[in-house]
This record gives sequence, structure tokens and C-alpha cells, in this order.
Amino acid sequence: MTYNPPSDVMIYDTTLRDGEQTPGVTITTDEKITIAEKLDKLGVDVIELGFPAASIGEQKTFKEVTKLGLTSQISGLARTVKKDIDIAIDSDADYIHTFIGTSPLHRDYKLKMSKEEILDKAVTSVEYIKDHGITAEFSCEDATRTELDYRLEVYGAVQEAKVDKINVPDTVGVTYPVKMNELISNLMEEIHVPISVHCHNDFGLAVANSLAAIEAGAQQAQCTINGLGERAGNASLEEIVMSLHKFYGIHTNINAKLLVNTSETVSRITGVKMPPNKAIVGDNAFAHEAGIHVQGVLANSQTYEAMSPEEVGHKRKIVLGKLTGANAVKAKLDEYHINLNDEQFNELVNKIKSLGDTGKNITDIDFRSIAEAIQGKPTEERIKLLGMSVMTGDSTLPTATVKLDIDGEIKYRAETGVGPVDAVIKAIQSLVKEVVNIELVEYHVEGITGGTNALGEVFVITADEDGNKATGRSTSEDIVKASIDAVLSSTNKLLMLRE
Ligand code: KIV
Ligand code: ZN
Repeated sequence: MTYNPPSDVMIYDTTLRDGEQTPGVTITTDEKITIAEKLDKLGVDVIELGFPAASIGEQKTFKEVTKLGLTSQISGLARTVKKDIDIAIDSDADYIHTFIGTSPLHRDYKLKMSKEEILDKAVTSVEYIKDHGITAEFSCEDATRTELDYRLEVYGAVQEAKVDKINVPDTVGVTYPVKMNELISNLMEEIHVPISVHCHNDFGLAVANSLAAIEAGAQQAQCTINGLGERAGNASLEEIVMSLHKFYGIHTNINAKLLVNTSETVSRITGVKMPPNKAIVGDNAFAHEAGIHVQGVLANSQTYEAMSPEEVGHKRKIVLGKLTGANAVKAKLDEYHINLNDEQFNELVNKIKSLGDTGKNITDIDFRSIAEAIQGKPTEERIKLLGMSVMTGDSTLPTATVKLDIDGEIKYRAETGVGPVDAVIKAIQSLVKEVVNIELVEYHVEGITGGTNALGEVFVITADEDGNKATGRSTSEDIVKASIDAVLSSTNKLLMLRE
């Protein structure tokens, strides 16, 4: 293993290109602008905005984003094809990342070209880009499955053609750290322009492989927010950056405090939700439940945290459940300035443990309302249901009218939806908008008795615009009524925070 890491690493973000190749994801021009602005603030060196030759829409996006005068360079992907490069130039890209497959599989099955033809295309394309005064980065697609000598020959030839950077894609994520380290050390002997890596996560090794390349001397990592990308995705930007900062003391231009906010924006726009246990940015990345852990973290957060949540713009969470100990309950009561006597305190701990035993989710707001109820504090609900009606059928658009008392004012709203439940929830959302914007994060119905008059239990989690979450639960023979009651109960809990 070679250990020759640089002191600075450039971050080339490809969320808007490879990330957009995530199955099921498309990002509109306006959304690309929003994400590009976030990436620029985050401090990425290069934003790969898309593939200009793919569509007129992509070309428009390039023109709009390059007009913004961002600090990050704006790169466009292009095959080693004159037409693609011309379109990227005409779209005002400041930087062109051109690529061609070099492995035997790509040569024989995809391109049906000889080694010489491929080498010629690579060189001609780099020369053409450079003749236009544009920064050129070149990739041997499927570099990790390309013969060592040929790979070196192609990269050497584009270096002669004055390429600015070479990129080494592990296109199908088939390498592993020791091999990647060796590959980069081998290239470092002949290549004197910065070397970049682009790792896919098919074996879950994308970040490890990127770090192994950097240990060998690579100076740039291509990566994506939240690890989005083709198939199992690309190396995650947030994981690479925090590893570089923490393990190697390597500098990047990334402002780590913006990582969570950027991740949330990308997740909201792409619709790809992060698993709660996703490193750095997942909901549980700084959450503690077990009594022993909570006790440790409350005494000194480093006992169970590898970095502080504030460093990456996250928040520490003490999660309540059956493993919760008295310390966690005490800390939460202090946070909400709630005083309980010993008997009330024990009742609260037991209630939390028994809710946890039944698998129920307890958010902070639920905790507060349980504690205040035990304390005997009267809880006046700010929103009350005064009436509702729904109209549905196979030839009618499901429509719901909901009448609410909100802080003493009577309000009505009718909304349509894909079904009656959707329609009532939409009506509630638009009625309560003036006091709180709610998003439905989770919705489940469980039949708890049999037969046509079965009781159904509806469980919801709603969130406000600041990301606070509250649960609501209601049981009725009428699933629409149970849904309204559950949503109103969680909304009233969210409103407690605003008192
Ligand atoms: O994975 C890959 O090989 C790519 C190239 C276009 C660089 O995304
Ligand atoms: Zn890729």
C-alpha cells in the first residue's frame, strides 16, 4: 500500500449528473438551480451539472446556471464525440468531462472499436476541448477493468494532449481498496496532472475505494450527495469529506456545517429518502436510545459519538423507547423545563417503557405531552374538529369538506384527492397552514378487530417546516374519521412547540 496523500483534495460533485441517473430520479431545471446553489455554498470545487447533449432542457439548465456566476466550476459530461463536445461548449460549460470505455467489455461489446480507434478518439477530443480554452477532464470508462498497460497508454496520451485532470472510474464498483491503491500508485509514476477517482458502490466500497485512491496520491474525488447514482450509487460526498477531515487531516473546501442541510434538499427534490442509519446525515446518525449510551453521552458526548452533530449541521437526539433509562428522561424534562415529583417521574418512565414495549414510536413532542398530562397540566387543543363530509365513488373525484375550530375561529375547506383519506388530509393541511405547515411523514392503518365493522387504528407522523415530528393515533370504525383525528392530534402536538 502506498501512503502518499495530498494535503488538499478537490471535490467534484456529480449529484446532478450521475446522481440524476439514480433509477426513478429526474431533476428539473429549477431544481438543478436550487441544488447547484446549495452545492456552491457547500464549497464543492466542481459541479457536474449534467450531460448537455442529452436534451434541450439540459442545455437550457447549463445556460441558466452558468449565468449565476457561482464559485464552483460548472462541468458538462460529453462522450468523446465532436457533437457532444460542441453542444457542451455551446451550452456555456466552463469545464468538460469527456469519457470513453476502455475495458475489453466496452471495446468489444459496446463500442465495437479497436484499442487504436479508442485512443485516437480520446486524444482528439481532449485536443478539441483544449483548443476552445476549456478545462478538460478525461475518464477511461470502466478503468478498473481495463488492462494495466492500455490504461496507462490512454491516460499518457491524453496527458500529452494537455488534459487538465484524469479521472479513474470504477464504473461497476468492482475494485477494492488495496487494488485501487495499487492502480493509482502505478498511474502516479507516469501521470503528472491531478488524478481523480469516481467510485460506484456495488459492493458498498465506494467510499473506502475513494479513500484508498487518495492515500495513494489522488487529488480529487468525484462523489454525490447522499451517495446517489446509477444502481447502488456513487461514493457519498459527506462520508468522503468527513473521513478526509477527521482521519487524514486533509483539507477540502467543503463547509461541513452545511452537509445535513444540503443532504435534506437533495433528498426532498429527488424523492430519495435516506435510511435513518445513513452515516453523517441520517436521522439516527446522532441518536441515542440505550440507557447506558445516553448516560455516557450526557456525561461526555465523545463516549458514543465519533464527531459532534454540530460539525455537520445535525442535532443530537435522545430517543425514547423501552431501553430508555432515567437519565434520558431527566435530561428531556430539563430540556422542556418540566418539573415532576418522584411518583410522577416513575409513572413517566414506566409509561415510556410500556409504549416502547408495544413498539410505539415516541417523539419528543409526544414525550412532552405525556409528561405534561402526568403533571396534570390542562392541555387545551388549539385545533378541534367541528364536522366533516366526504363524497366518493367510481365516477366522482373523491372530495372532502372539513370544518375546524382553529384558535376559536371557525374555518371550512373542501379538497379533492386520490381517495377520501387523501382528500381530508389535504383539506386539513390547507386549513391549518396559517398556524403550521404540516407534512405527512408516515401513515398506517391497522385493522384491530375482524368483520365489516372492524375497528381500524390509524397511526400518523406529521412534521412541521422546522423538521419537528409528532405522532398521532386514533381508532374508529370509520377510517376517514380515524385519519382526521390522528392528523389533528399530531398537529396539536406540533403546535405545543409554538406556545
Ligand atoms: O461510472 C462511470 O464510469 C461514469 C463515467 C461517465 C465517468 O459515470
Ligand atoms: Zn458513474
